[in-house]
Amino acid sequence: MVPTRSALRFVGRPTWEALSGHPVTDEVFANVHEVAHVALGRSADLVVVAPATADLLARMVHGRADDLLTATLLTARCPVVVAPAMHTEMWEHPATRDNVSTLRARGTIVIDPATGRLTGADSGPGRLPEPAQIVAIALAALGRSRLVGPDAGPDGTGTDLRGRRVLITAGGTREPLDPVRYVGNRSSGRMGYALVTAALARGAHVSVVAANVTLPDPAGVTLTAVETTAELHDQVLAESDGVDVVVMAAAPSDFRPERIAEAKIKKSPDGSVQHLRLVQNPDILAELVQRRAGSRHPVVVGFAAETGDADGDVLTHARAKLARKGCDLLVVNDVGGGRVFGRDDTEAVVLDRDGAEHPVSHASKSELAGIVWDLVGKRLDSQRPGPSLL
Ligand code: CTP
Repeated sequence: MVPTRSALRFVGRPTWEALSGHPVTDEVFANVHEVAHVALGRSADLVVVAPATADLLARMVHGRADDLLTATLLTARCPVVVAPAMHTEMWEHPATRDNVSTLRARGTIVIDPATGRLTGADSGPGRLPEPAQIVAIALAALGRSRLVGPDAGPDGTGTDLRGRRVLITAGGTREPLDPVRYVGNRSSGRMGYALVTAALARGAHVSVVAANVTLPDPAGVTLTAVETTAELHDQVLAESDGVDVVVMAAAPSDFRPERIAEAKIKKSPDGSVQHLRLVQNPDILAELVQRRAGSRHPVVVGFAAETGDADGDVLTHARAKLARKGCDLLVVNDVGGGRVFGRDDTEAVVLDRDGAEHPVSHASKSELAGIVWDLVGKRLDSQRPGPSLL
């Protein structure tokens, strides 16, 4: 833990020391014989700065080293994750915007703040994201740097989606039947949100279309909530222009009731069978592939939850689906026997349209998300150089 002078003033040294179980200082002249201002940065596997003030961002940009934190940041060669928190005016000021762009261009992961209540009576963009999200992004950045090794990027961070625009769908759609009932599915949105975290940890600009997800909203993304497949369809197609990648991790319902009853449907007094007429929803993934009309841009990734049956095993169905849908990558989960839904770990195979198959076993959803972005990153790199947008 390396507090700044302001942090010591805000919270107080005894609290920092009691919580960390270590002596803390902001001074480069403390413990000079240990050369702490160099040793801390050199030995770190990951540096997380949370919260980062507007002043700290400015000092990082200029390479200042006048306290222990900035000296540590200047010597660190590991991933650096920064979670700014400040009043909206400061966050939106052109000086701060420029500083954030500069840091991102250097490979620092800057998480956009959440929107909400700030330290005064005001509210708006500038609130520190939930600690769980900062930790998840930090772990994804750490995992990534281990996977790719120290030579991955100009600064060793391996932020291979830096400046890329990605659109991720998550959750499961609900098709209303009457004012209280719907036809839905068991998708929790966890896989979609793991992809969001991993994309943020690689420096992407992330848009999320979330269908009935009850997990906490991720900060640092543009998020639109939808309910039905029709709404998901319209939102995805409206946002897909100009993005580099679309990942369809959501489970859209293939069918919807032909009509939505205005009043709650009653049981029939004689217990007779009720018939529900369903009509087919649009296939969003297929439409995305059709719209790019032979070009490979954007990269389109599909997910398929499959079970084996009399016509073939999971992989046979998945290969046929990849061919039918025409997407670039298809992540196939075997959901026979209640596996995957709502759980944190997963068994999957990632099928590439070029014929490669990547089995992923006993992986967490975060690990699977990392593998998906590795494969997407390779495709993007082979298509064209990275955009200048930061
Ligand atoms: N998908 C979609 N639009 C739909 C249904 C599915 O875009 N109406 C997307 C999903 O988000 C997923 C992929 O297509 O990325 C595969 O979903 P799945 O339900 O397995 O595909 P279906 O074509 O509906 O196949 P099946 O007939 O096996 O249900």
